[in-house]
Amino acid sequence: DYQNKIAKLKGQMKSYPDFPKPGILFWDIFSAISDGQTCTLLQGLLVETIRREFPDIQAVVGLESRGFLFSFAVAAELGIGCVPVRKRGKLPGEVIAYEYKLEYGTDVLEIQKDSVKPGLKCLIIDDLLATGGTVNAAANLLQSCGAEVSGTLVVIELEALNGRSKNMVYRNRARVIVR
Ligand code: PRP
Ligand code: MG
Repeated sequence: DYQNKIAKLKGQMKSYPDFPKPGILFWDIFSAISDGQTCTLLQGLLVETIRREFPDIQAVVGLESRGFLFSFAVAAELGIGCVPVRKRGKLPGEVIAYEYKLEYGTDVLEIQKDSVKPGLKCLIIDDLLATGGTVNAAANLLQSCGAEVSGTLVVIELEALNGRSKNMVYRNRARVIVR
């Protein structure tokens, strides 16, 4: 049943303290999906969650790079579009950029101008919600393109960091597979 699936998934995810920097707990999604059954299980959990919580979305927006794994996996199953948000300088053609603050300095996310039409109902997908900075920036970027952000779906949430308090994630609905 559902609780057994979550427990199995959780048991297969490894975490590494102080990687890539001191103070950061790195949750390694790849340790779980090296197992074939877990791939199927996780894809199923993500798809079920979308069908239940976000039945009317028209596209999933995957965040580079680990978010790409899950955005394509669910898009293919649901038969909806899969749109990338990438770090600066990786997408060809006309792009729209959004600059956001990190603890030290700033970072930039980009999307291709024609990849989302105004009013398109989007779900943001990533592996992990930590400080919430990445998802929040992606939501702002999508809104600046006129897209409608229906919510966010992540595999893991580090609740202690309170990433949900970042305004966009909080205002829109955020769903998580594992805490
Ligand atoms: C990690 C993770 C999330 C983000 C979460 O990505 O995959 O995208 O950080 O952190 P936040 O909530 O504090 O913004 P990272 O930038 O390390 O790159 P990667 O996905 O390419 O490995
Ligand atoms: Mg990432």
